[in-house]
Amino acid sequence: MKNPFAYSNYVIGESFCNRKKELSELLRYIKGSQNVLLYSHRRYGKSSLIRQLFCDIKEKNLNIGAMHIELYGTISEKDFITRTFQGLNQLESNFERLLKSVSSAIKNIKLNLSIDSSTGGTLVSPSFEAINEKIMLEELMNILSKYSQKRKLVIAFDEFQEVANYTEEGFEKRLRSFIQQHSNICYLFSGSQQHLITEMFNSNNRAFYKLAESFPLGKIETKNYIPWVQNLFSRKNVHLPAELIEEIVAKFENHPMYIQNFLFHLWEKPAKKGFSPDIINQVENAIVEKRSLEHTILWETLSINQKKTLKLILLNNGANLFNADSLKSVNLKTGSLVTRALSSLIKKEIIVKNGNYQIQDVVFKKWLQKTLSL
Ligand SMILES: Nc1ncnc2c1ncn2[C@@H]1O[C@H](COP(=O)(O)OP(=O)(O)OP(=O)(O)O)[C@@H](O)[C@H]1O
Ligand SMILES: [Mg+2]
Repeated sequence: MKNPFAYSNYVIGESFCNRKKELSELLRYIKGSQNVLLYSHRRYGKSSLIRQLFCDIKEKNLNIGAMHIELYGTISEKDFITRTFQGLNQLESNFERLLKSVSSAIKNIKLNLSIDSSTGGTLVSPSFEAINEKIMLEELMNILSKYSQKRKLVIAFDEFQEVANYTEEGFEKRLRSFIQQHSNICYLFSGSQQHLITEMFNSNNRAFYKLAESFPLGKIETKNYIPWVQNLFSRKNVHLPAELIEEIVAKFENHPMYIQNFLFHLWEKPAKKGFSPDIINQVENAIVEKRSLEHTILWETLSINQKKTLKLILLNNGANLFNADSLKSVNLKTGSLVTRALSSLIKKEIIVKNGNYQIQDVVFKKWLQKTLSL
């Protein structure tokens, strides 16, 4: 029987747990052509949510065209344009028909079409010969605008924070000016480097200032995990008690990727009458062990004061870090050293401030506890 759990890529369908509220809220934004900024820490499920949403749109036969553009790894405006062009084939299975419907918007550019040998679909790439990026972007945006006149569109730019690193002068501004004119398109910007992406949309000196509704994506609630996990394990004729699922979810602080990771390995274990605490611990330790090299390398990049500050956070559950006794317990001489270390650790997204200071990655936290013998 195929393992229904997966953790190295996006998940949809049976592997996708709940998110009902988020799906219906996003659909409402799409119908109203309201742009959205979807952001979270890494691996909370943004791309999965977008994919599931687009599947629902298709299944419900809503007359909305949907494009998911993955911007990770793009380093220039040219890459952005190429990826977006490549995404056009998600709108229509018959690409020639799509081109015909928007032909009046294509004036200066030449498109190269080829067959994708893996899917049999059409691959499109723009030819940049003798045409600069400005004209290319304009034509691309005209194509989208033209298409959206006959059918509502939602365009998800995933890992949108990459755009902030492009060096082309004025790209964000030019992109914004087109987006603002597209009244029948919902742009869904998604990203995981929180400080970068929220800075792009929340600072009044940036081009995307207030261009989208903020949509922070949280973790998945424990009560939603229970029926989903029970249902999938019931296929193996294994009944997982609610208390055990609660324990697993709590172990990984409701982090979607780690919980799938855990359940994937648990699925592979032989279950006689359920799973013993030994097996649960084994699976947990294996997950921590697997990331141990990565965490050792991360640890070695930190300064001594940052290391002490991490220990301070763990010893004090992230609160009262500036007490004389707390400082003394980790041999930190002054509070200003802690302030500086906290600020760098936040910038590196190793910790977050959520009332108290917390280690962002729960598996890194477990590794630290083990390594520091806490
Ligand atoms: N709704 C969900 N139900 C169950 N597991 C989920 C769900 N969403 C995400 N996951 C788990 O989290 C993993 C990461 O999901 P996804 O790639 O969608 O996250 P992301 O936020 O886009 O990550 P990144 O920050 O790397 O872009 C998935 O492989 C899956 O294991
Ligand atoms: Mg993603």
